[in-house]
This record gives sequence, structure tokens and C-alpha cells, in this order.
Amino acid sequence: MAGTCVIGLQWGDEAKGKLVDLLTAQFDIVVRYQGGANAGHTVVSGDTTYKLHQIPSGVLTPGVMNVVGPGVVLNPPVMIQEMDRLLSQGVPLEDNLMLSDRAHVVLPWHIAEDQVLDKNTADGESIGTTLRGIGPCYRDKVGRSYAVRLGDLYRDTFQQHVERIVEAKKEVLVMQNGHAVSLDARKIFEEFRIYADRLQPYVADTTAYLLDAVEAGKRLLFEGAQGALLDVDHGTYPFVTSSNSSGVGVSAGSGVPGRWIHKVIGVIKAYTTRVGGGPFPTELKDDIGNHIRERGREYGTTTGRPRRCGWFDAVAVRYTARLSGVDVLSLMMMDVLCELPEINICVAYEIDGKRTNVFPSHTDDLRRAKPVYETLPGWQQDVSQLRRLEDFPPNALAYIQRISQLVGRPVEVVSVGPDRQQTIFAHGAPVGV
Ligand code: IMP
Repeated sequence: MAGTCVIGLQWGDEAKGKLVDLLTAQFDIVVRYQGGANAGHTVVSGDTTYKLHQIPSGVLTPGVMNVVGPGVVLNPPVMIQEMDRLLSQGVPLEDNLMLSDRAHVVLPWHIAEDQVLDKNTADGESIGTTLRGIGPCYRDKVGRSYAVRLGDLYRDTFQQHVERIVEAKKEVLVMQNGHAVSLDARKIFEEFRIYADRLQPYVADTTAYLLDAVEAGKRLLFEGAQGALLDVDHGTYPFVTSSNSSGVGVSAGSGVPGRWIHKVIGVIKAYTTRVGGGPFPTELKDDIGNHIRERGREYGTTTGRPRRCGWFDAVAVRYTARLSGVDVLSLMMMDVLCELPEINICVAYEIDGKRTNVFPSHTDDLRRAKPVYETLPGWQQDVSQLRRLEDFPPNALAYIQRISQLVGRPVEVVSVGPDRQQTIFAHGAPVGV
């Protein structure tokens, strides 16, 4: 009887998918509860790489149910592509996948709106969204008039609903864009009817299912997407995604009350990355940043965009670890830093000449924040083949310990490469439940 959450504590891409995949065998159900096809979770097993966007990473473990909850914005064609790819890789999808009938559906107009609106923030800087229609879909969900939920695809009124929305969206898009965007209601309806047929066997009331499951003592693993600094309420607004990607989003997005959540694992990289716009105090726009990008293969799983790279920011992670109720840390990509002679950790910010440990609530302040660094000696030794912390070079252990101290949480998992085998559990056994 336990709910465990895996939450990214930076700006996403912390390798949460790998950890979820590793822990899944201890759970009955894995739940995705926010975000959508903007997420990209990579899981490597032997010679095979699995790329997941909307399907929970638990799908690779037989006997586990995978739930896409009401808080996810679901893109049907991308979901079907993802299913087909998994099936072609020999991953079965019978009796192990459920899609909430309450989940909102990303439709072609959302993608068109994302392309137009991404350029229009108050700061004049582009958010640099993934252009997957995520923000516009969440906006329609909250606005209610033009929203479509997965369950709506099966109602007799669906065609009329699409026609009404398309008329309105054409006008909105002309206003936003300055010229017309072609949207054909009939074509969209026909297309989505085919998607609906394909997805129907998986569509269910997942809220009722999960509430029954927790009361029956089933073990649930909640898989966060993106990272806590991208949380729409608590992140670096407006340079965020449109959902609650920190730990506070788990209950709202899944329908499972917080009383069933017993453990929160915060996932961090040994450095920091960010995709898209917005302030990033520890960003390295130099050879070290390029080195981290190449060694860490820091290119987006979903968009292929090069990720911005920088030093570990303990001010930001201490904030998101507290915000997400984190119990323990999982430190990923430790192998990437192995060639550097010295490594910086940001231990405080200096804003307008004042030193602070508080993560600012406004991006203007974060833009002016100058990182205060502590410099640690590098370990300059390949750690990717190590399987026990006792065998780690002392400087690498000192780095792990310092991160743990600064964030205020123990490090229970250390990852030294993409493969399942390249994972060290500090206490010898996986730490799920
Ligand atoms: P959106 O989620 O597509 O609206 O994009 C909003 C911001 O979140 C942009 O800066 C994206 O690059 C970022 N973002 C969205 N999903 C991910 C992710 O899975 N990893 C990293 N960044 C993401």
C-alpha cells in the first residue's frame, strides 16, 4: 500500500524515464498525470532504445498497468504512432494501458495556436515551446467552451462540437496571426473518428480505477513529466510548461489524494540543462557548456533541439526539492562530468549586490541573479563502468555529498550511463516503495 512519485527537480530531461523503468517491477501501476507529447522519456535496455512521449515508462515491464491520467493532454495521432513503435519493438500493449476518458485532447488548432502564440510573451522573448499544442490545449481546458476530452470523441455530438470549435478557432487564429489558417472541420472529424476507434479499447474511467486500486492496497508509481522549474504555478513563469510539473501536481492530475503518497524521489542531473527560452543563472555559453552537451548527448528527445547546459544550481534544486516534498534524490549523468578538472556548484545567488539562497519568484530577478560558485576538484576518471559507490574516486564522492548537503536530502541513486545496468543504489536495493 504505497504511492511513490518520481519528480524532475530541474527544467526537465533529468532521465526520469530510466528511473521509473528501473523501479517499475516493485509496483502494480505506473501513472502519468500531467504534460503530454511535449515529454520525451528515453529508456535503454541492452541494444534497444525506447522513446516514450505519452505512455508511462512502466510499459516495458510485463504485468504492470500503465495509466494516462485526467491531467494529461493527449495527442491521439502521436499516441498511436508511439503504440505502433512499441508494438514493432515487441512491447505488448494488451491489458496494460489505460487512458483516462477525462484527459483533454490536443487537436490541430492547438498546434496552429502554439506556433503563433509562442512568440508573444510579455518579455518579448519566445518561450520556445515544443510546438506540440500543450499550452493552447490546457488553456481551452480551463476556458471550457472549446475543450474536447477523450470521452467526447465517442459522443454523438462530436461532429457538431468540432464544427462549432473550428468556426471560432478560425477567427481566433486570424486575430492572433494576421492571416487565415486552414482548418477543415469535416477532415478533422473524420481523422479523429479513426483515432478514436483505435484508442477505444484503452479508454476508461481511470480515476475510479486508481481510487479502487489504492483502497485495495495496490502499489502506485507516479511518473512526473518535465521538471519542477517548469511548473506553471511555481516555476520560472512565463518560461514554463502549462501544467503542474512539480510534486504538487500529482494529486490534481491523477485523482489520487495526497494521503496515498508515501515517498517522493527527486531526480536531478549532476549539472543543469534547459530547453527553450527563459533565465538560467548557471548557463555555460562556452567550451565547457559545449563539452557537457556533447558528452551528455544533450539534444531534445521530442524536438532534437540542442539543450542549454550549465553548472548544478543548488539554490534552484533546494527550492524544488522542498516544493515537491522530496524524500531522497536520484543523481543522474554522473559520467558526463568525468573529464573536467574542476566543477562548480552554485551555492547562492547575488541579486543587486545582495547574497540570497531564496529562489526568486519573478523572472526579472532571476535574470539578474549572479551565481555564487563553490569550486570542487574534478575526478577525471571514467565512472561509467563502476557499480558500487565504494569504488568511486574520492572527488566524485565529495561532489555527491556536497550536492546532498546543499539540497538537504540524501542521494539514494546514482546513474552513470543510459543503460539499466549503469545504476547504483546507495543502499544496495532499489528504493521504490
Ligand atoms: P511546452 O510544454 O511545449 O508548452 O513548452 C514550454 C517550455 O517547457 C519550453 O521551454 C519547453 O522547452 C519546455 N519543455 C516542455 N516539455 C519539456 C520536456 O519534456 N523536457 C524539457 N523541457 C520541456
